Amino acid sequence: MSDRSRNLPRRSCLATPGSSDRFLAKAPSAIADMTFLDLEDSVAPNEKVAARAKVINAIKTHDWGERVLCVRVNGWDTRWTYADVIEVVGNAGRRLDEIMLPKVQSAAEVIAMDLLLTQVEKDSDLPIGHIGIEAQIETAKGLINVDDICSSSPRLEAIVFGPADFAASIEMPVLVGGVGIPDYPGDHFNYVFSRILMAGRANGLQVIDGPFLKVRELQALREYSQRTRLLGYDGKWALTPDQALVLNEVYSPTQEQFDRAWDILEAYRVATEEDNTGALMFGDEMIDEASRKMATKFLTRGKRAGLVRSSM
Ligand code: GLV
Ligand code: MG
Repeated sequence: MSDRSRNLPRRSCLATPGSSDRFLAKAPSAIADMTFLDLEDSVAPNEKVAARAKVINAIKTHDWGERVLCVRVNGWDTRWTYADVIEVVGNAGRRLDEIMLPKVQSAAEVIAMDLLLTQVEKDSDLPIGHIGIEAQIETAKGLINVDDICSSSPRLEAIVFGPADFAASIEMPVLVGGVGIPDYPGDHFNYVFSRILMAGRANGLQVIDGPFLKVRELQALREYSQRTRLLGYDGKWALTPDQALVLNEVYSPTQEQFDRAWDILEAYRVATEEDNTGALMFGDEMIDEASRKMATKFLTRGKRAGLVRSSM
């Protein structure tokens, strides 16, 4: 199923605490492209072990539709990672698409996860390579090693920024993660966003922004998420179903952009195939092969979001 989930949209990635029966029961009805059941930071240490069975039960008993379904395990710097994987992947069945590995600091951590997954797959009758990996970059060391991390395993499907842990790691003086800092003259995370995006795209991965913790401020979320949308990110974490609705909209091309991309491709096709011209005027703009590539990206993303060309 990692082949299935690799190309599915991830405009909204809904976090669901794995120890909460209430949140686990509600999650399938949220309109989110991806959902991850969390065993890491939203689960108290005393609940970590018991949460595994709740997560397995939720995967097996709820109808998750077509969404990408993921479990975030604890990081390799804890004592829980190996048993999280053995127990959850070993018992969840084929509907589980991915494991999310937090606080990844080096390629070796992803390789270790890949090797462990291979053994668990062999032992539990899953196709080898079935489980994909999402890696979170949320420390200074992880960012420094992001190129190696992104090329470390064919199981990788997405690279994910974790702004709250990252702020702590670099000792940024903030107390709320993933929100704007009005006093900073510019975007305090622009370098980080761009760095992760380059590494992800160079390796064909989806690139995802992390949480916006002011969960009641939906307009502020809409504005803040433009930063990564405009750079080219595929989506962002949602902490509530309402946040997911906002993100589904923000990370989809508009109908106008989709139609324009469609028209550029058609004009370019006619010019190159019928008129043997490589560059042409489209309205008051010159377009060429590079314009075709840009328009193709819009079209792919729009189709993934369910858009069709409006009638002419
Ligand atoms: C997410 O895991 C974060 O630390 O922001
Ligand atoms: Mg984190």
